[in-house]
Amino acid sequence: MNIKNVTITGAAGNIAYSLIFRILSNLPFKATDKINLTLLDIEQSQKSLTGLRFEIEDCAFSTLNKIITTDDSEKAFDHSDYIIMVGAKPRSKGMERSDLILDNAGIFKSQAETINNVCSASTKIVVVGNPANTNALILNYNTPKIPNENITSLMKLDQNRAKSILASKLDKQVKDIHQMIIWGNHSTTQVPDLYNCKVKTSDVNVDDNWIYESFIPKVQKRGGEIIEFRGLSSAASAASAIYDHINVIENGSGEWESLGIMTSGEYDITAGLMYSLPLKVNEMSFKVIDDIIINSKITNLIKLSENELLNERDIVRKFLP
Ligand code: NAD
Ligand code: LMR
Repeated sequence: MNIKNVTITGAAGNIAYSLIFRILSNLPFKATDKINLTLLDIEQSQKSLTGLRFEIEDCAFSTLNKIITTDDSEKAFDHSDYIIMVGAKPRSKGMERSDLILDNAGIFKSQAETINNVCSASTKIVVVGNPANTNALILNYNTPKIPNENITSLMKLDQNRAKSILASKLDKQVKDIHQMIIWGNHSTTQVPDLYNCKVKTSDVNVDDNWIYESFIPKVQKRGGEIIEFRGLSSAASAASAIYDHINVIENGSGEWESLGIMTSGEYDITAGLMYSLPLKVNEMSFKVIDDIIINSKITNLIKLSENELLNERDIVRKFLP
């Protein structure tokens, strides 16, 4: 029997409340029969975490081998094969994701140091807590033991949103939309790029006015729109996207994917940022699609998102060794 150790941080929060049940219903991890699940949250959340553990036990999942709840990050990350880093302060109405930057930078630095001490180089980490790309950058710089390609940040929610909005505009099925790209930061500067999209095998025919005045701003601002309507940030859709992200990394997709990864100068973007690029993901490995022709308007937007990440990097400079 193949058992994986999976740790979820921020486990008493809203996203985790959807994510845990989704994962246990159908494990996305390759060649894994069961998981040992460790749920990490702060001391004040331990009572709620106990209630959550009871609910998980009551589901009698055949995919669950063992469950641990804790506020001790060393215990939580020890021998972890997969870490899903959700734990962070979410934004509320009127805030940008980057407003959380210094609050969350400290959490990611200290958890990174623990991960570097207690995990092996094969551990895979997905960063979700916002500002996700810069938190992932802090994590990456403070875990020299873990290879860059094992650390990714979530952009799948943006890609799912973009596909869904385009499908609705064209009155087509989401499953038939291919090659949707999200460039940049998980923020209002992200660049959903549909210029290479296909519907089944046909090119997409929409006017530029719709792309720049409607499509791009709608995807960029969708997180804020949800906060406006729900009074809380997206949780179920974020959990669903995390599941999709892990499924892609583990099992490949044969599709164009967008994940936040450590740049190394692709498309003239500064090296050493966690930036969303178009990727082909095979089982357990990915490759940047490096021959995309980008129009000048999209190039300018891509630069804006890069500049925002450079600015965020400056703000967290003291958290980077
Ligand atoms: P939430 O407030 O419901 O839950 C966050 C949890 O993290 C809380 O239980 C809190 O106690 C815990 N936490 C805080 N500090 C911690 C620490 N040091 N160690 C462990 N746990 C800690 O928020 P949520 O709705 O679940 O969202 C979590 C994060 O995910 C937020 O930052 C949110 O902005 C982000 N998010 C990202 C995306 C994305 O696409 N990247 C999408 C949606 C939400
Ligand atoms: C989202 O995109 O829904 C999340 O990042 C939450 C937020 O703060 O917008």
